[in-house]
Amino acid sequence: MKVRARGENPLAYVRTYGCQQNVADGEKIKGLLAEMGFSFTSEPEDADFILFNTCAVREHAEDRVFGNVGALKNLKRRHPSTIIAVCGCMTEQERVAQRLKQSFPFVNLVFGTHVIHRLPEMLRDVLVNSERVFLQGHEEEEIMEGIPVRRDGKTRAWVTAMYGCDNFCSYCIVPYVRGREKSRRPEEIYQEFRSLVEAGYKEITLLGQNVNSYGKGLEEGVNFSSLLRSLDEIDGDYRIRFMTSHPKDASKELFDVMAHSRHIPHYIHLPFQSGNDRVLREMNRKYDREKYLSLIRYAREVMPDISFTSDVIVGFPGETYAEFQDTLSLIREVEFTNLFTFIYSSREGTRAARMPDPVTYGEKTKWFAELLETQEEIAVRRSKRMVGTNERVLVEDRNQKSGLLSGRTGGSHTVEFSGEDALIGNFAEITVTDARGFQLHGELIR
Ligand code: SAH
Ligand code: SF4
Ligand code: F3S
Repeated sequence: MKVRARGENPLAYVRTYGCQQNVADGEKIKGLLAEMGFSFTSEPEDADFILFNTCAVREHAEDRVFGNVGALKNLKRRHPSTIIAVCGCMTEQERVAQRLKQSFPFVNLVFGTHVIHRLPEMLRDVLVNSERVFLQGHEEEEIMEGIPVRRDGKTRAWVTAMYGCDNFCSYCIVPYVRGREKSRRPEEIYQEFRSLVEAGYKEITLLGQNVNSYGKGLEEGVNFSSLLRSLDEIDGDYRIRFMTSHPKDASKELFDVMAHSRHIPHYIHLPFQSGNDRVLREMNRKYDREKYLSLIRYAREVMPDISFTSDVIVGFPGETYAEFQDTLSLIREVEFTNLFTFIYSSREGTRAARMPDPVTYGEKTKWFAELLETQEEIAVRRSKRMVGTNERVLVEDRNQKSGLLSGRTGGSHTVEFSGEDALIGNFAEITVTDARGFQLHGELIR
């Protein structure tokens, strides 16, 4: 197959939206494209192949994609040979696939989340037969292993532990677009993980929508804690991170493994979504406020220095202002390092989309502002407490504005400090000297 190229080599532009799972998929897609002879560009204008790897989790994410795909119409006029493709979670929704088919005739290829490995044949059909290709594909029984990966970074890497989600939280589209939960075999994960450590990666993040249910359905009799324990035994100078942990399946064993590990920072992202029991029940989260708080208490008992981050939804259908206050009180009680906050967005086909939703969006944005203000106060207070402490940071890059190096602590705080470029991609020891808002400043020790 010959890919049409305007330059010497065919160039691909791949843009990924959404969560780390999508980022990991994007790296596989780039691996496949590289095998087909593509090089990569960050300029859509120069590309022979343009791909949007999309996210469906909130309406705003979808609107952005439609806007950006629409904007390619003119580019296609200038460069008619450019192939335009859309994949990822959005395309798994029939409504979206239809809209792309009917209203975006310049889009050549649309494919779902279960058929990434078939990209070479899909591209061949587009090129050789000059067809528009739409492929949803069914979920395979077995996980596709061995797809080449072209990783975006040299310091941080993603390793999928499990695919899909079985939880059907009532607001969430993910189980519909990602299919059923499937765990990768532990030896596959171990091999990939070890080769990343050997290649010098410093932070390796295990991925899954609910990593705590890892191992269900496998013959090996493993769970997430035992997986972590076996990976932690691999020698080397690196950190293990993981996301996301669902509180309903987080166990004492998990926190015990973290407390005794060599490579797992004392940090966990543990989304609580709401601090009110009625709302949690309506969300189908399968834990209550007390269970969540008891996990936090146990984690602090075995790791007094542990740091927590979380996801929160404001304005779930039927949530009252009084119930929202329970979310604020939970935030004050736990004192999270950082929060990822969302205003509820109705997703067609989910249970919550059929629930009465009397509170106006305008009202919800007021609650949202109150949430941000509350968290800001907490973050500032927590950051101030860190002044004078020593932290090990993974240096990520140089902040162009401040000219300082920027790194991340084990607990996921960002710290800026002055130092040589050679530190980028390595660990450094710093003393926290100042906290301005959430932002920490430090001095290099070594
Ligand atoms: N599997 C992860 C979350 C994946 S989606 C977990 O269960 O924790 C990431 C976050 O997006 C969720 O935690 C939730 O806070 C938010 N989210 C999901 N669906 C949403 C919706 N319909 N409206 C607003 N926020 C939503
Ligand atoms: Fe969505 Fe819930 Fe699954 Fe997370 S656990 S992906 S919020 S359904
Ligand atoms: Fe979005 Fe799909 Fe992830 S819907 S949040 S990219 S699993």
